Amino acid sequence: MTQDELKRQAAIKAVEFVPDNEYIGIGTGSTVNHFIRALGESGKTVKGAVSTSRQSSELMAQYGIPEIHPNEVSSLPVYIDGADEINHLLQMIKGGGGAHLSEKIVANLAQKFICIADESKYVSRLGKFPLPVEVVPMARSMVSRELVKLGGRPELRIGVKTLNGNEIVDVHGLDFSQPMAMETRLNNILGVVENGLFAHRPADVLLLAAKDGVKMLTAQP
Ligand code: 5RP
Repeated sequence: MTQDELKRQAAIKAVEFVPDNEYIGIGTGSTVNHFIRALGESGKTVKGAVSTSRQSSELMAQYGIPEIHPNEVSSLPVYIDGADEINHLLQMIKGGGGAHLSEKIVANLAQKFICIADESKYVSRLGKFPLPVEVVPMARSMVSRELVKLGGRPELRIGVKTLNGNEIVDVHGLDFSQPMAMETRLNNILGVVENGLFAHRPADVLLLAAKDGVKMLTAQP
C-alpha cells in the first residue's frame, strides 16, 4: 500500500468522527485533501467549516462544504488535520504546508483535535522534520541569528509567502526534549509570528493508518 493510500485510509476513518449539522475545523495538506473528498462524498451534512488555507477552501467549495470565518465561532466540536511528525504524547511538528499559524488558531478553537496520518509520521522523537517558523520579513535575519543561538540551522523557504504576507524559515537540528518550553521560547523571539511545534495544544486522538488498518491512539504518557 502506498503512503498516499494510507493517508486516504486515515482520512476516510475521520469522517466517522464528524458530528452532523455542526461547524467543524479543517486543516491543510494532502491527508486533509483526502478527508475533504471523503466528507464530500459521504453524504454527511455539516453546517460549515473553518478552513486553514486557500487550498483547503478551494477543495471544500468543490464539494459544497460551506466556509465560515473563525471569528464567527467561539468553539468547534472537532478539528481534523494532518501532521509532519507526531509523538506518543500526540505533540506534533506541523507547517510543512506553511499553514501552521491558522492551523494552531483553529486547533485552539476545537474541543477535539483529530490528527490523521500514515504510520511514517509517528516518531519516537520529534525533530527529524525541520521546524517551520513563520517570521515577519524585516526580522528574518535577526530571528535566524537567534535560532542559531538555540542550536538550530535555519533555512529560508525560498519564494514562499504565507497568507499573512510573512516568510517561513525551516529550522533543522533543534532539541525538542522539552517541547513545551521550546514552543514558548521560539515564540518569544521578536519577529517570530508562530512556530509549527504543537506541544501546548497536542492532538486528542490520532488516527494512524498502517497496512493492517487504521489504529485510534490517544496520548501514551
Ligand atoms: C500543513 C501541515 C500538514 O498537516 C502537514 O504538512 C502534513 O501534510 P501531508 O498531509 O501532506 O503529509 O501541517 O501546514
